Amino acid sequence: MNRLNEKQIGTMKTFIENLPKAELHLHIEGTFEPELIFAIAKRNKIALDFSSIEDLRAAYRFANLQEFLDIYYTGASVLIEEQDFYDLTTAYLTKARAQNVTHCEIFFDPQTHTDRGIPFATVINGISRALADAEAQTGLTSKLIMCFLRHLDEEAAIATLKAALPHRDKFIGVGLDSSEAGHPPEKFARVYDQAGCEGLKRVAHAGEEGPADYVRRAIEILKIDRIDHGNACLDDPELVVDIVARDLALTLCPLSNLKLNGVASLAVHPLKMMMEAGLKVTINSDDPAYFGGYINENYIETAMALDLKNSEIAQIARNSFEASFLPDAQKAARLAELDAYLAQT
Ligand code: ADE
Ligand code: ZN
Repeated sequence: MNRLNEKQIGTMKTFIENLPKAELHLHIEGTFEPELIFAIAKRNKIALDFSSIEDLRAAYRFANLQEFLDIYYTGASVLIEEQDFYDLTTAYLTKARAQNVTHCEIFFDPQTHTDRGIPFATVINGISRALADAEAQTGLTSKLIMCFLRHLDEEAAIATLKAALPHRDKFIGVGLDSSEAGHPPEKFARVYDQAGCEGLKRVAHAGEEGPADYVRRAIEILKIDRIDHGNACLDDPELVVDIVARDLALTLCPLSNLKLNGVASLAVHPLKMMMEAGLKVTINSDDPAYFGGYINENYIETAMALDLKNSEIAQIARNSFEASFLPDAQKAARLAELDAYLAQT
């Protein structure tokens, strides 16, 4: 039972909508809205298997991660030109800015595109030009994290890292995404070592559908700096203590977990239990075009379902800046903006 009445719910929503926050778990291909998919498909003269925008949106019902990924890769297949990647990224940044995201760290999946013959440079140049333009126009800061597809082999990931290195100035880290089950972290041990030698940050999806031990192995073998999802860690109390001791943050994605049947309802989402265990959790949207909400909807629906107090919501926003890969001075500036907002609410 929610402790809030209608008026208080309205106040809570306004508090969240105006709250400065960082988004740290966001796949740019997962922001591809059906309207833009159709517009870009038309521009590129690509026929889609869906007869209308409504038809495509109606297909967004997923029993699990794999069912989602199948349709997500289909959507991404209409991206051909640098301008397509620019438009996709700009559309997300416009929404993020409107939701008071002041800093974002964005994943992209180069192999989804290079395997279709799209040059790596086309992908990264389109995305980074959009990031630079948005920062110049609105002050929204951003970083780019290149993900390896874990259903492909490590040789392909190593080749992707090699293709990326001439663009080393455009991204700050590597991540690991796609189908988790059956693709354990150690499959990518060598490419993560190489990324570490290049001074790249390392993150990985772990414990989204996989077991707690995948989270442990991502920490110990891949030497990750942040955990994407990490939900399964609660199954292993010693692991939780270790994550707290290492001060590793988790990028949780509640609506994603709900839509992919990782949780039966948001009322049983592990976020609050994780906070109580001392874990540094953040709230993010993962693939908002597919999961029914951007970052504010994730905050609001989670806060309602778990009856979060404003102080807990504020702590999650604070965590988002602390867990970001911003340089210390910029991090302090973002935290000061958050403190100024909290002081006047
Ligand atoms: N790629 C895009 N979204 C993903 C998710 N939630 N898990 C794994 N891979 C992804
Ligand atoms: Zn993700």
